[in-house]
Amino acid sequence: MTVKIAPSILSADFAALGQEVKSIDKAGCDYIHVDVMDGHFVPNLTMGPCVVKSLRKCSDKIFDVHLMMTNPDDFIEAFAAAGADIITVHAEAVWHLDRTLSRIRELGKKAGVSLNPSTSESALEYVLDKLDLILVMSVNPGFGGQKFLPSQLDKIARIKKMIGSRNIDLEVDGGITPETAPLCIKAGANVLVAGSAVFSSKDYAATIKALRGNG
Ligand code: DX5
Ligand code: ZN
Repeated sequence: MTVKIAPSILSADFAALGQEVKSIDKAGCDYIHVDVMDGHFVPNLTMGPCVVKSLRKCSDKIFDVHLMMTNPDDFIEAFAAAGADIITVHAEAVWHLDRTLSRIRELGKKAGVSLNPSTSESALEYVLDKLDLILVMSVNPGFGGQKFLPSQLDKIARIKKMIGSRNIDLEVDGGITPETAPLCIKAGANVLVAGSAVFSSKDYAATIKALRGNG
């Protein structure tokens, strides 16, 4: 299994965001992880669809847009039009998850669901066939640079079993370093989000390689 690396641009230099996206593209990342925060669902504010639209010109890689917001339904169309490839909503933030996932796919995009650390994987049970990606938060969402929560490893392993032979990415987000990455991979993850580990390093390519486990 090839492990995919999705650097989170939350930890990039915002004054040079386009250049940072070009750099991680060149450094061999698989997805570009975009953390959208609304100041309600999480205690932080980041970026909206117009930022995604501008950055779209900087890379052809997969834009993996993680919506940490209440009422994400109001913005799904705008992020789809801006060039998102995968749109992930939080199970805790939508009233009708089945409907929201269908809407994302109707727009021709891949549909993802994210679970906070305290949310059970049972939230996924009846929507598995509408999913392209499951995002397990291994920190409480809102900020980069937090410590990995080992309690999520069992959840990752259980979700891996639930996925079975379905073609669904199992992504982990928060506190991923060359030390915690192998634990997630062992539990069954195939996509790792890394913000501070990548952007605080001097050599993005070497860090991406190290996270993949062949560095
Ligand atoms: C947290 C975000 C993450 C975060 C990861 O709310 O969803 O994507 O930026 O950052 P690190 O890798 O620094 O934990
Ligand atoms: Zn994220």
